[in-house]
Amino acid sequence: MLLASPPVEAAGERGLILRLNSSDGHSDARSVRSVALHVPVGQSVSPFLQAGTFAARWEGKLVLEKRSRLVFHLEGTGQARLFIDGEALVTVIGMPSESERLRSGEHEILVAYTPPPEGDATLRLFWEGRDFSREPVPATAFIHDPEDAGLKKQWSFRRGRALVAEKSCGSCHDPGTEVVMPELLLKAPSLDGIGNRLRQDWLTRWISNPKASRSSAHMPAVFRGEDAEKQAADVAAYLVTDSSGLRRMVAATPAQVREGGHIFHQQGCIACHTLDRKGDGERLGLGGVGTKFHEGALGEFLRSPTRFHEGSRMPTFQFSEEEASMLAGFLRSLGKDPGARSRKGDAAKGQALARSAGCFNCHQRKDEAKGKGSRIGLFALHSVECSGMHYDLTGEEKAALSGFLSQKSNNESLVRWVPAEFAERQYHSLRCHSCHERDGEEPLRKKYAEEVSHLKPIELPANEEKPAILAGPPPLNHLGMKLRPEWRERLFAGQIRPKVRKWLPARMPAFPARAHHLSIGFSHAAGFSAEESKRGALDPAKVRIGAAMTGVEGGLSCGTCHGIADKPAIAVFEGEGPNLREAGARLTRDYFHLWMNDPPRVWPGTIMPKYALDGQTPLTQYYEGDARKQFEAVYEYLRSLSTK
Ligand code: HEC
Ligand code: HEC
Ligand code: HEC
Ligand code: HEC
Ligand code: HEC
Repeated sequence: MLLASPPVEAAGERGLILRLNSSDGHSDARSVRSVALHVPVGQSVSPFLQAGTFAARWEGKLVLEKRSRLVFHLEGTGQARLFIDGEALVTVIGMPSESERLRSGEHEILVAYTPPPEGDATLRLFWEGRDFSREPVPATAFIHDPEDAGLKKQWSFRRGRALVAEKSCGSCHDPGTEVVMPELLLKAPSLDGIGNRLRQDWLTRWISNPKASRSSAHMPAVFRGEDAEKQAADVAAYLVTDSSGLRRMVAATPAQVREGGHIFHQQGCIACHTLDRKGDGERLGLGGVGTKFHEGALGEFLRSPTRFHEGSRMPTFQFSEEEASMLAGFLRSLGKDPGARSRKGDAAKGQALARSAGCFNCHQRKDEAKGKGSRIGLFALHSVECSGMHYDLTGEEKAALSGFLSQKSNNESLVRWVPAEFAERQYHSLRCHSCHERDGEEPLRKKYAEEVSHLKPIELPANEEKPAILAGPPPLNHLGMKLRPEWRERLFAGQIRPKVRKWLPARMPAFPARAHHLSIGFSHAAGFSAEESKRGALDPAKVRIGAAMTGVEGGLSCGTCHGIADKPAIAVFEGEGPNLREAGARLTRDYFHLWMNDPPRVWPGTIMPKYALDGQTPLTQYYEGDARKQFEAVYEYLRSLSTK
């Protein structure tokens, strides 16, 4: 393979540095996975640059594992040039390079780009070699210097900007602008009816010191000093005044607890959680949830984690009521209440305290209004040590926040949002890599699999004649290119049913509050528009040929592994592929061709065969064996099957 991980001696981080300059003299730099960009007309290429014309340069090294002959292509709008080792290989978008012989090892790479005077800015870099056909140059082929001064300075601004959102400083200190950055618009948990969900003891402990309950808490400690615990108890007493009678639950049976453990194992919860109380800093411990949630409320939380907390990063698995209660039974079995009862509080005092302390600046609650906050504006603060709240920021957080806030013009970055950057930030923050592989990185659920091996369901004896190859969740290398944006958005919103891979026990959870923005962002990051793609009317002649090509008689027998509409797969000896009914609605034309051309290159290890060799398939009766034309006919046929 040409693009395994870079050789060990290569010093650098994956991807390239993207340097940007705007026409009014501002500049920015960020690291990106690949050479790809899409900026709709009128939008900004960076939160730190105004909308309008700009110049972009991608810089870093191209790493080749072996000596290769390569052809490079740039696709898009505007003007772009590709230099390798200082030599201009591509000088015009749409005109491929000569076939270049490049030695193994590192090569300087530079792509310089200016958008067109009108319309969207778009750029994508492709390559092809002797043993593979045209594909986007993957992130694994690039490295850059993470210590680059320009990159570090701008990274620190980005970190400060993200912290302003995470810590909600703007709920009390007026940023002086309208805010548009999506993270700033996600609300903290609602305190409506909280007494029905959470236990009073836990509330007292949490309010008196959130970081002691959860080291990754963003909520500040509002009370400090001698009276802190008493004040927290008063506020907790006030919060539970609206509980309207608790639902009692029958305790889970041992069989249900065991089944709940299996679900925990199957759905990869361990990638984001530990089974103990404390967690490990990176993962949240679940051993103590029984002391937080009332009976019944835990199951409801698992079914819909965003119901009372839109911004929650806990994904929605769409569990049935039964599944959720078995899981809840399992979680409760992990730890018993330590029994430390905290003091009772005075609800009337608590209400007054909650109002004056600014709880309702961040949280919504029925009959409570947002407080006034501080008179000092966000970009007028003299330091980052809040005298109203106790944030316990780390040194690194303080430095990033103060760097960001000390530059007044940075407030404009809160008014801009760049979908591609948002999606990449959320990829890490929502931990998509817990379940998915991307750029050759091992998913976290594999890394932590040992910790839940005791929860694995007992497997049925393997059928020796049918050794089923069970592939896990699909890799996300081509995330922005593979799926049609409208379908991808429905997937993130949890609207795809039945699931695509029915043989896979794991599910793709939903991220409802972020679905729309995420979907746009992944398209842009891969250099594609997220507008609904118009694909024209179906061509009946192509549909007919496509149908024949997938068939058994005179075709390629795709139905061996794939269900096709109402026909189930004929013989899934080694494993199964998705029913092709929705493939035409799911997949973009570009990705479909990439996949059909060479499935094992796109998903190493897949059992789907490669049918095309040097642009020809064995079926010579259609289009004289021309693979591209034949696959186009199959795509048209698949489109004709889909219900959308
Ligand atoms: C991709 C990461 C991820 C996965 C996978 C995940 N969770 Fe979570 N979960 C979170 C995050 C992050 C939170 C914290 C919520 C927040 O405040 O944003 C959370 C919160 C929770 C909580 C509430 C804990 C508390 O102290 O309030 C429970 C219970 C929970 N998850 C159970 C599960 C179970 C059961 C599974 C598997 C079915 C699971 N989670 C899978 C990320 C994940
Ligand atoms: C700066 C914004 C902010 C302020 C001020 C604030 N909170 Fe929070 N609170 C949060 C955030 C954000 C969370 C979600 C957990 C986290 O990331 O820390 C949270 C979580 C909570 C929770 C847990 C909710 C759940 O379902 O898990 C409770 C209860 C709560 N806050 C109560 C209060 C009370 C009472 C006050 C005032 C004394 C207060 N908060 C002040 C931001 C704030
Ligand atoms: C719940 C409301 C609230 C939140 C959220 C909040 N503050 Fe404050 N902050 C205050 C209040 C109240 C004061 C006291 C000054 C006043 O009376 O306006 C203050 C004062 C300050 C001061 C001292 C004022 C000065 O410049 O002399 C700094 C610095 C500050 N806050 C920084 C922050 C930062 C940074 C964040 C986010 C990490 C933040 N604050 C979040 C309410 C808040
Ligand atoms: C708890 C595990 C888990 C997490 C976390 C997760 N996924 Fe998935 N994802 C899956 C599984 C399993 C599937 C396959 C579902 C199926 O097809 O039946 C999937 C499918 C997908 C698909 C469809 C791909 C295809 O070819 O059909 C996309 C796109 C996707 N995930 C993106 C993401 C993104 C982006 C995130 C983070 C925001 C994410 N996933 C987080 C488990 C997960
Ligand atoms: C030996 C079994 C096998 C055969 C034969 C086979 N495929 Fe596949 N196919 C697969 C597997 C496995 C996958 C990937 C599964 C996944 O994405 O989880 C796949 C994926 C696909 C996809 C992507 C589907 C999607 O919705 O993501 C398409 C399209 C496809 N195959 C078309 C075809 C066509 C057309 C043929 C016949 C020319 C064919 N396949 C023959 C096993 C097979």
